[in-house]
Amino acid sequence: MTNRSVSGPGGESPPGPLPVHVGQDTVPAVPLPAELVEPARTLFADRLPLAATYAELLAGPGVLRGLIGPRETPRIWDRHLLNCAAVAEFIPTGSSIVDVGSGAGLPGIVLAIARPDLTITLVEPLARRAVFLAEVVDALDLGETVTVLRARAEELAASRREGAGGRRRRPTRAGRTGGPLPAAPGAPVELADLPADLRVPADIVTARAVAPLDRLAGWCLPLAVPGGRLLALKGASAADEVAEHAEVVRRLGGSAPVVRQGGRGVVDPPTTVVEVVRERAGRPAATASRTSGGRRGGTPGGPR
Ligand SMILES: C[S@@+](CC[C@H](N)C(=O)[O-])C[C@H]1O[C@@H](n2cnc3c(N)ncnc32)[C@H](O)[C@@H]1O
Repeated sequence: MTNRSVSGPGGESPPGPLPVHVGQDTVPAVPLPAELVEPARTLFADRLPLAATYAELLAGPGVLRGLIGPRETPRIWDRHLLNCAAVAEFIPTGSSIVDVGSGAGLPGIVLAIARPDLTITLVEPLARRAVFLAEVVDALDLGETVTVLRARAEELAASRREGAGGRRRRPTRAGRTGGPLPAAPGAPVELADLPADLRVPADIVTARAVAPLDRLAGWCLPLAVPGGRLLALKGASAADEVAEHAEVVRRLGGSAPVVRQGGRGVVDPPTTVVEVVRERAGRPAATASRTSGGRRGGTPGGPR
């Protein structure tokens, strides 16, 4: 493999969009291990070739741009794609999804591949990640069902509250008479240019490896419709987090969190998901962060 289009492995984006037709010289093949063929077929069905292309984009440009660690490449199928796709069983047909903190597209892009019936908004504040996401959406032709928004979850929630009768929103790029301009292909949408038909708040809010449960609930529950659900993909600490943060989640308007296992009998290990139903409007997120000792509005271990 030669890295002909790469400016450096340190994380700066190479110029130009991702290749739509992936070539052997810029994008490494990411073989699907034999023992994962059956689970992958079960979870992706006829969209498995699209999942394979996404695996290559993660392992190629995703690694070169510093969005995913090089040591993840051999684990892309099980630890990332299948782990995320296993969440689909908790999502009813035709649902709207907001994926908070999508990073390189996990789980949002994976769900869009596995479930073309879903309408998905990917929310990612970091510009180079949001640009990568928009380019992936373009390369995989997912634009009909996926919107990439460069914003923080709490900013999006505030802007939707304002749009629903609070403060007037500032004029969009299109001015006072027209609607927002559509984002250019391969570019994320900015908060000031939200499409009029954006399905936010959504039926389901997903998040993986973004923040502890109390902070996550503060950011995500306002992005769910009443009766909608937060599905937080968690690791081994899920039960501890539930025990620690259940009271804060309740004050934020959430139900008692429940730990579920997705993909049982299909993926090993199954995907651990904490599910919270939005039961009512809760107290503002900053209150929850203070009570649990978190930084107000801080980002969990990540750059802004
Ligand atoms: C550790 S990464 C996880 C990325 C991806 N979900 C995954 O599982 O690989 C956390 C992501 O959350 C994003 N993030 C942090 N604070 C956020 C906020 N307030 N709203 C939305 N995204 C946020 C970061 O920019 C980063 O991309």
